[in-house]
This record gives sequence, C-alpha cells and structure tokens, in this order.
Amino acid sequence: MQSWIPIRKTDAERAAANLSHYPWVQHDFSWEHARERLRGLPDGGLNIGYEAVDRHLDTERRDKTALRCVDRSGVVRELTYADLGRDTSRFANLLDRLGVHVGERVFLLLPRGPELYVAALGTLRYGAALSPLFPAFGPEPIRERIELGDGMVLVTTPELYEARVAPVRDRLPGLRHVLVTGDATPPAGTTSLQAGLAAESDRFTVRPTDPGDIALLHFTSGTTGRPKGAVHVHEAVVAHHTSALYALDLHPDDVFWCTADPGWVTGTSYGIIAPLTHGLTLVVDAGEFSARRWFQTLERERVTVWYTAPTAIRMLMRHGTSLARQYDLSALRFVASVGEPLNPEAVYWGREALGHPIHDTWWQTETGAIMISNFAGLDIRPGSMGLPLPGVQVALLERGDNGRARVTGDTVETIDRPGVVGELALRPGWPSMFRGYLHDPDRYAGCFAGGWYLSGDLASRDEDGYVWFVGRADDVIKSAGHLIGPFEVESTLMEHPAVAEAGVIGRPDPVAGEIVKAFVTLRPGVAESDDVRLDLLGFARKRLGAVAPKEIVFDAHLPHTRSGKVMRRLLKARELGLPEGDLSTLESAH
Ligand code: WT7
Repeated sequence: MQSWIPIRKTDAERAAANLSHYPWVQHDFSWEHARERLRGLPDGGLNIGYEAVDRHLDTERRDKTALRCVDRSGVVRELTYADLGRDTSRFANLLDRLGVHVGERVFLLLPRGPELYVAALGTLRYGAALSPLFPAFGPEPIRERIELGDGMVLVTTPELYEARVAPVRDRLPGLRHVLVTGDATPPAGTTSLQAGLAAESDRFTVRPTDPGDIALLHFTSGTTGRPKGAVHVHEAVVAHHTSALYALDLHPDDVFWCTADPGWVTGTSYGIIAPLTHGLTLVVDAGEFSARRWFQTLERERVTVWYTAPTAIRMLMRHGTSLARQYDLSALRFVASVGEPLNPEAVYWGREALGHPIHDTWWQTETGAIMISNFAGLDIRPGSMGLPLPGVQVALLERGDNGRARVTGDTVETIDRPGVVGELALRPGWPSMFRGYLHDPDRYAGCFAGGWYLSGDLASRDEDGYVWFVGRADDVIKSAGHLIGPFEVESTLMEHPAVAEAGVIGRPDPVAGEIVKAFVTLRPGVAESDDVRLDLLGFARKRLGAVAPKEIVFDAHLPHTRSGKVMRRLLKARELGLPEGDLSTLESAH
C-alpha cells in the first residue's frame, strides 16, 4: 500500500469562462466545498457509509424510503434510511465478530436486492473494503478476483455459491468466511447470513476513518495480464456526491434509477453511494432487460432521473418511439448514459421518445466518478462526451508509434489545436482517483507521465473544449459497456486441450458496440469441426460466464509480432476489411 502515489490537492481548475453563469461552477471537488453538503465524522475523518446512511438518521429523511428493490418477478421490497441504519449496523457488527480487520476485503456476489445494499453499506460503515463482483461472472474470473484481492469474506446466495464458487473453493485458501443469504440450510462450508445478522445488535458507531483509507476495490481489465484491482478511498465520496449533483442533477426529492450492476463501478458509485448521499429514493430493478419491463419500471416508480448505457438505449431504440409513448414517463426529467460511445441518433431518440435528450458522461473504473459530461444546464452536443466537470483538468497528449501518449523521459506534449486526436489525460488530484492497482505498483506508476493520468482513450476537442471520443488506444474490448481483457479470454481458451493459440478481438456489433470474437489455432492432429467449435464455446462459457467469446473461428495462421505475440490489431483490421498495411486507420474505424 505504501506504493500509492499520494493524492496531491490541486487548486482545482475553475470551469471554462463561458460557463460562469452556472452558479456551481465556482465549486470544485475539494473537501472544503463538499463540507457544506456532506458532514464528515463527528471526531474528524470521512467515511462513505456514514455519508450515505448515518448522516440522514437525525434528519426528517430518517423514515423516507431509501431503496425500492424490485425483484425478478416484480415484488418490491422497501427500506427506509432508518432500516438501512439498523441492518447495516448488524452487518458491521457481524464483520467485527468474524474478526475482519479495517481495510480487509469483503467480496459480494449477489443479485441486486436488499442484502447486496445492506452488505455493501455495512462493509463501508465498518471500515472494511468493499469489492462487489458481477454475478454473471463464471468461476474463473470470480476466483481470480477474490485471490488477487485477498478476499477475507464472501457474501453470496446458495445458488451462486454452488454454481460459481464451490468449483473453485479449494483454490481460495485465504477466503475465511462464506456467508449465504436465504433461510434454507446453508451449503457445506458456508454459514447463514440471516442467522449471523439476527444475533447482532442493530447499533453500530462508525469509527474514525481517514479519508485516505481504502474503501472500494473494483476490478478492471487491461490488454495484458491479469485483471487489475483499482483501489479507491473514502475521500472518493466527495467526488461521488458532487459529480452526481453536477452531471446527473441529483437532488433529495428525486427518484433515481441507475441500471448498472454494482459489480461494475457505475453500479457502486452511482448505483449505491452518490444517490444515498443525496438522501433520495433509489430504485433497484433486478430483472432481466426487456424494453417493456424497463418502461414499466420508469412509469410505475415515477423515476425522475435515469442513468443507463448506450447498449440498453440501442435496444430500446429498436422499438422506435411508439413503445415508449405507451407509458406515462411524465415524472422523468433527466436521462444520462455512460460506458461506450453514445451515437447522436440516441440523443435525438431520447428527446423524441422519452421527452429528454440523453446526456453522455465519460469516466472509468480508475477515475471512480464522472469526469466529463454534457452536464445539467450545458448545451448538449450530440456525439460529444461534453466538458470536463468543474475541478477536472483534461488534456490531449501527442501520440507516439504505439498509438499512446509519447513519453520522453517524464515529459509529454499536450495538443492545443482543436480537432487533433490524442490520448485523453487527466490532471491527478480529484478525490475519487484510484490510489493504486492492488499489489501492482508498477502498473499503477505506468498510468502516469508528465504529471498526467493517461486514460488509454483517444479523443479530440473542439473550439469550445467539448471532448469527442475516438476509440481506445489499446486492445481492450467494450461489450455492452463492459470492459473485457482479451488476454484473460485467450488464456482460458488455451487451457482447452485442443487449443494451441488464440487471439481475441472485439467485433463491431450494432447493439452491444462490440462482441468478443476469438480466432483459434488448434493443436496438430485436432481437426477443425463444428463439434470442436461448440465444445470450445461451451468450455469458455462455463469458465468465464458473461465475458466468454460469442463467436469462435479457426485460423491456422494467426499473425504474430516479431516478438511472437498474436497481433490482435491485424486480426481486427482483417475483420473490419481494412487494408492490413495501414493499421493507423484502425482507431477511427468504429
Ligand atoms: C472505458 C472505461 C465508469 C463507466 C463505466 C465504464 C469507455 C466510458 C464512455 C463514453 C465512449 C466511453 C472508455 C473508457 N467509455 N464512457 N461516454 N463514450 N466511451 O468503466 O469499465 O472502466 O471502462 O469505457 O473507453 O476508457 P470501465
């Protein structure tokens, strides 16, 4: 942990002069400004769970509905802020009884229901570090993340335990406690969450927490190597809260629905923390996507602010505007999107079908909170990600041969001319900046150069400073908003006895943005056949779950670099029908 780059409080940039008529532009992300809106612990310090729960308990919001959880079959369970206070206290006391130390990692593998939110906020109030996993992951990604994160406790359902964790349980010796939900007899090797909670007191006082203490661990993927565990600290709540105010226009009277799962950073920063710090009512829908169901949720819950993703919007757009118009969406007043490029048509569709244009927002697991957006009050430029939030300083950096920022010594060149593509960079110092990749200080250090954090994205800016997304500077795949590391998928495929080598790319897809496609060379003596292909698809699906390739093709002559690595960029160029010699055009091809 000592290897984290200490946070440097910048004099946060004042927003561009043409924004001065927005009153909050005078604000920045610093704790001094947030102090008026957040509270801080009574004896000093700052704790995310305290700001999301405790702070409301001596106000009139105490008995207000904090959470409305709609389960798969449409049954609604509600929790008030007071309920959250009691239930999260029980969970925090249970962690104490289990001997969990401050800063140790508690993993959650849970569908979106009250247990998930209680365990998440209980963990934060207790001072342990929260790591929610995406329930659609297969056993392999789950095992790898719990191992990398030194998971001490896992909370899951009996079904998810049997299907996803039991197969790898003996390879997780460090995981001490597995708590399962429900009232049935827990599977062997696990204990009952419900019984544990029932035995605990419903009072718990949040202990002194340093703003720089670890609070969250979110995994993300790079082009090479294992997943990276991005560490976030309690101070991040300042950015969660204020960015939600600026970019999502959240206020205490809102009914807010964020469609992301907490297993992804959006579902934690804006699906748990930010909305509850605003004291509003948060809607959680655990059901599968269907256009009708989603419109029903918007209508029935009278959602006022909605945060969703381009893939979902594109699926809704298939119905034109007619389906949306069958529902009463009159409560809705603000719609925002994140995770992948939002086509201009989607912005216009929002205006026609929902009555509101869609506000794009840009950020990453590493940034912890929204950094750039078409925020409330700003003129939307369809196709642009918007302007940096107040307090965020952005630059575009000149690129070198590998397509990423050119670093000479420790210097980089910024691009001032509009319309020129460079690597998107941010000036470190915002509160929700990641403070490390767990156990990987070199990779962390490699994200910074010349006083900038390098995002790995390519973008350009127009005359007014609006940022336009161009593509990734690396090989990571974006499918339905989820970042997928090709290396993780290739490694799993190569564990299959028939596979000699694999190269994995994102193939453009009109709905999901990209889908995972694998090119596979079989071992000598194994004949290419549909049976082998289907076997491989099933093998990958079983191990990887949602990140498995959707398409596998055989290729006996995968292209290699001189150092012997599969050239994913060339595979991609072929897939896109681009001339193989000219890889530089790749970035703008999608
Ligand atoms: C990558 C980060 C934190 C949000 C969820 C994703 C891509 C994100 C946009 C956008 C085009 C976007 C970038 C970024 N991305 N927002 N508005 N337009 N691309 O977090 O999984 O860490 O992915 O998502 O490529 O680097 P993530």
